[in-house]
Amino acid sequence: MNILDMKFMKNFIKITEDAWLKGWHERNGGNITYRLTEEEVNEIREDLNEEASFQPIGVTVANLANEYFLVTGSGKFIRNISLNPSENVGIVKVDESGENYKIVWGLENNARPTSELPSHLMSHSVKKEKTNGLHRVIMHSHATNVIALTFVLPLDGKVFTRELWEMATECPVVFPDGIGVVDWMVPGGADIARETAKLMEEHNAVIWAHHGIFCSEATLDLTFGLLDTIEKSAEILVKVLSMGGKRQTIKPDNFRDLAVDFKVELDEKYLYETDLVNA
Ligand code: 13P
Ligand code: ZN
Repeated sequence: MNILDMKFMKNFIKITEDAWLKGWHERNGGNITYRLTEEEVNEIREDLNEEASFQPIGVTVANLANEYFLVTGSGKFIRNISLNPSENVGIVKVDESGENYKIVWGLENNARPTSELPSHLMSHSVKKEKTNGLHRVIMHSHATNVIALTFVLPLDGKVFTRELWEMATECPVVFPDGIGVVDWMVPGGADIARETAKLMEEHNAVIWAHHGIFCSEATLDLTFGLLDTIEKSAEILVKVLSMGGKRQTIKPDNFRDLAVDFKVELDEKYLYETDLVNA
């Protein structure tokens, strides 16, 4: 089947359009990758250029050997993907060693995969292992309110998780494993990829201080939904802080009750006592 007619491609384009409209992807900000299923690869195999040459990823992802990923291009505007997919996104294949990739489709006119490929592939690697292959998507967005909070809250995953859980009752159900936080680091390399992947062992969302957020999930919809939920919660927190802080809130015992009814496990490390700002 023509690659542009494949369902995964249509879903990918829809998510990039929605994320652009959310305001999370100024210019070329942010990047998205999707790990294709074996069936999807089989359906498009005759349109893939397996003759392309391999280049180093910069990190080793042994358990992703021979996997194919749909990836956004480096420097490409997320807003332009739906207008011209084959110039702005591509499909890459990881080699047998997990150390190199080649472009087998798209990224026309000498475009390159996102500069965050090491962070994406290392996170995919951790999630493939941890979820028995269920997770297939990594989405990195410059979500405005999440970034704003990294200038005000301590850069501590326990604090971010608890504060964001409190901002909307269903947040602990959507991200029961909490959020990790990486201190400010130079983006686009192996070091930030390793720090992010370490936190992906425990969380489906990792915030990069003063930069953005990485989310992982099984499908494009679920990944978008997770990112959207966290960003909305961050927006509420920004508003609450701007209005002078919390006067009442959801308490640790409320979360414990919620966990029972919604059948989620909430780690007690997030359920510490806090003081209300203006009580
Ligand atoms: P790319 O254009 O290389 O994907 O980089 C954008 C970005 O958000 C870097 O963190
Ligand atoms: Zn970025």
